[in-house]
Amino acid sequence: MAVTLIDGKAVANKIKVELHNRITLLKQRGIVPGLAVILVGEDPASQVYVNMKQKTCDELGIHSETTRLPADISQAELLRQIDRFNSAKDIHGILVQLPLPKHIDTETVIARISVDKDVDGFNPYNVGKLMVGKPRYVPCTPAGILELLHHYGFYPDGKHVVIVGRSNIVGKPLANLLLQKTKGCNATVTICHTGTTDLGYFTSQAEILVVAAGRPGAVTAEMVKEGVVVIDVGVNRVADSSTTKGYRLVGDVDFNSVSQKAKAITPVPGGVGPMTIVMLMKNTVIAAETLN
Ligand code: GUN
Repeated sequence: MAVTLIDGKAVANKIKVELHNRITLLKQRGIVPGLAVILVGEDPASQVYVNMKQKTCDELGIHSETTRLPADISQAELLRQIDRFNSAKDIHGILVQLPLPKHIDTETVIARISVDKDVDGFNPYNVGKLMVGKPRYVPCTPAGILELLHHYGFYPDGKHVVIVGRSNIVGKPLANLLLQKTKGCNATVTICHTGTTDLGYFTSQAEILVVAAGRPGAVTAEMVKEGVVVIDVGVNRVADSSTTKGYRLVGDVDFNSVSQKAKAITPVPGGVGPMTIVMLMKNTVIAAETLN
């Protein structure tokens, strides 16, 4: 049977229409949702993400303020910037783009973001809320992955979901989300990571396989079973002199071989990426609806 390509762009566009309606209702009440994005340094991938976030805010009519700070900014100054947005009435969501430069303590910075405006869901309070099964702001990539699975009718309930990667941004929050005893979640979850011996032993048992390893070719066809649903979270630049930019984007999964065995798979780009951005917009709308 032919593989289904999971079209994140199309699903994201559908959600944008719903959000646009909610934003219109907010505007009728005199409320314009506001998102503050803070970018520290010049990391090229982070710049691309931040630009895409701003563009999507503009498209939907969300007020956005992007603050670009030099890589050598002090932690104290960064915290001051967060405080400014914590108390700004026209800002409902705050996001600090990660990774941060090494001299800055990421945990301290994230903990400073008001729990009410933490649209990334990274503040330890919101992490804890998700972990005890009472999510408030769900981190955007895990939320986007769940939306994609539901949209295509791949319900995780009772399924074995194997996640490759234990990051605080994807692997751990996604595992907590899928573990919830609610309809549309309720999965059996395995998390694999760099300390896992024989990764293929685990990935080949997955009915749904989510790969957020940060490494191209981390999963190949021999490591998956026939009929698996594959969600590739990786975004890697690989040199390609045939393109004008000199590189192309690939995921963590060897798409050509794995798509021969999979029932469905996300492309890179155009799979998870657009969903992450739209879920950030959704969390910002939720913040504006609840903070006013
Ligand atoms: N860096 C990579 N993904 C993310 C994300 O979802 N949020 C933030 N703030 N930084 C990131």
